[in-house]
This record gives sequence, C-alpha cells and structure tokens, in this order.
Amino acid sequence: MKTDHNRRLSPSLKPNIVKTAKPAAYFILLMLTYALGYISHRPSHTTLTTPSSLSLSSSPLLLPPPSSFPPPPPPSPIPTIRSSIDASELNPFRVTTRCADPVPPETVRRTLVDRLFNGTSPYENFPPPHAAAKLHRTSRVKGWGSYGAVFENVIRRVRPKTIVEVGTFLGASAIHMAELTWQLGLETQILCVDDFRGWAGFRDRFSKIPIENGDVLLYYQFLQNVITFNHTEMVLPIPFSSGSTLMLLCEWGVTADLIEIDAGHDFLSAWADINRGFRILRPGGVIFGHDYFTAADNRGVRRAVDLFAKVNNLKITVDGQHWVIYPS
Ligand SMILES: C[S@@+](CC[C@H](N)C(=O)[O-])C[C@H]1O[C@@H](n2cnc3c(N)ncnc32)[C@H](O)[C@@H]1O
Repeated sequence: MKTDHNRRLSPSLKPNIVKTAKPAAYFILLMLTYALGYISHRPSHTTLTTPSSLSLSSSPLLLPPPSSFPPPPPPSPIPTIRSSIDASELNPFRVTTRCADPVPPETVRRTLVDRLFNGTSPYENFPPPHAAAKLHRTSRVKGWGSYGAVFENVIRRVRPKTIVEVGTFLGASAIHMAELTWQLGLETQILCVDDFRGWAGFRDRFSKIPIENGDVLLYYQFLQNVITFNHTEMVLPIPFSSGSTLMLLCEWGVTADLIEIDAGHDFLSAWADINRGFRILRPGGVIFGHDYFTAADNRGVRRAVDLFAKVNNLKITVDGQHWVIYPS
C-alpha cells in the first residue's frame, strides 16, 4: 500500500513537499516549546489582564478589597496651641536655659575679653590706620539725658561692682558713670552692650560720625571717646545685639548690680531688653532706663516698663526722663 500511495504522487511534487515540510516542523516545534515554557512558569495567583481591567481585587499584590479595611477613625478635634501656652503668663524664658551661677565680679572683665575677643583687649593697637584720621577727639560726648541726676542717685545707692549698659552710642552715659564710680572710689566694670550700628536714619542727625563703604564708624568713635577720657580700664564694649548678648551673659553667669536700658525704644525692643536685663540683675540691684516720657507716649518704652512692672508686681520710680525699678 505504501508503495501504491507513493506511486500515486506526481514525481514533480515530491521535492516541493520535502522542501516545505522541514521548516513547518521546526516552526511547530518552536511553538510547542514556547507554549510548554509559558504554562510551566505562569504564576498561579495572577490573572493576565489588560491595564484597564486591573482592579483592587484582581491582584493580592495590591490593596485588599475595601471590605477588609478597618473602619476610619472618628474625626479628632483640631489641636490648639493655646492649650499648652498660657498667654497670660507673659514669661519669655520658658524655652531657654537657666542662667549659670554668678561668676565673681573681679573675673568678669577677664572672662569677657577671653571669650569675646580671644584674650586681646579691644583697645589694643587702636586706632587702626584706615580709621585714625577720621576720628574726632571731643571734650564732651554727645548723648541724650546722659548726664542726668539719676546716674549719681542710683550709683550712690547701689555702689555697683558691675554695670551693664544696654545702648551706649558714643559712650556719653557710660563715660559719665565711669567718672562717678571713679570719684566714689569704686572698682566698677561698665559693660557697654551695643551693636554700634545706631538705627536706620540716625545719620540725618549725626552726619559727623565717619562712614566708610556705608559702614558707620560708631564703634571706633566710641573706643576713641573712652580712650580720650582715660576710662579704658573701667569701660568694656560688647559690640553685639542686645538680645544675643544678654542671653549669653546669663548663660555665662555674668550678673550686674546696675542695669541701664537705653537701646531700641519701640515697645518690643524695650520689652525684650528689660526682661532679659532683669534676669541678670543681682539681688539688691537696680534696673533703670531712659525715655520714659517720649512722643511715643504709652506705645513705646513706657508701655514696656509699665507692663513689666505690673506683671512682676514691682514699683516704678521716675527720675527726670528716666524710669527706675528698685526690686528690693
Ligand atoms: C539712644 S542710643 C544710647 C544712648 C546712650 N545711652 C547715651 O546716653 O549716650 C541707643 C543705642 O542703642 C543701640 N541699639 C539699638 N538697638 C540695639 C540692639 N538691638 N542691640 C544693640 N544695640 C542696639 C544703637 O546702636 C544706639 O547706639
């Protein structure tokens, strides 16, 4: 039969069949191999889907069906900061470190020269050559109420070893206090806290203070004035902002018997300086300041002083244009 069947095929067709049968067999074999490989490696838990048919429930790799979510928590009330801060306390120091134990007054100057100026007095090698010709030597330093009776009154009463002046400008009140303590035979250090920048617009009234590249030479003129009046051993500048300096003095244990506040005259500046200054006042000391009566009336310094006295249950005494608080 086999022979018959072969015989029935036309001899001309034989080579063509052989030619096409081989590639077809390879192709079928290839497809079978691919299909077997696919079936054996297909993960049993996935469903082959088009992206549009993907849903939360179609794959365990995604989120579980909504029915298995825990119920949403009940809406909580919005927390209020007021619950942790009692605004009526008006205590600005709750977030700061406490002051260190006081260092002895005799060590205050050395401590500050070491820590602020790397051990070198700011008067050494003064003036620098570029400023020398620009500085004035004056017989009376200009200030505001800087020679008022209040200075002698408080110095006689307290006989201070350390004075902190917050707001010094050209040094009029500092030099006046140096004269007074010297006349009384006191050994007093007067620490002058001032950034020596003045304030925006102050040159309208003080155009004689030299300026270089927009930088007013107030600090150099202050040093020159202290040198002119021969008080370098008693007067030490601290040429930084009042806020950072008063906090630092507190942290370094530098306290004072007398504190004069005469820097920024807006309410917030005066309020901050009075509060920070009071923190480093020694028991039995006095804090006082200028410009209790100004055009700002009850919106500037006076508002800050009155509020401070009220909050701390202290009494204010007026001495000329100055306010004075004798805490004990
Ligand atoms: C009114 S003057 C001081 C006058 C001085 N007590 C006198 O009687 O001659 C104010 C001084 O406070 C300084 N000042 C203002 N705000 C300051 C701040 N935040 N820190 C340091 N100094 C400041 C200014 O540079 C200026 O020299």
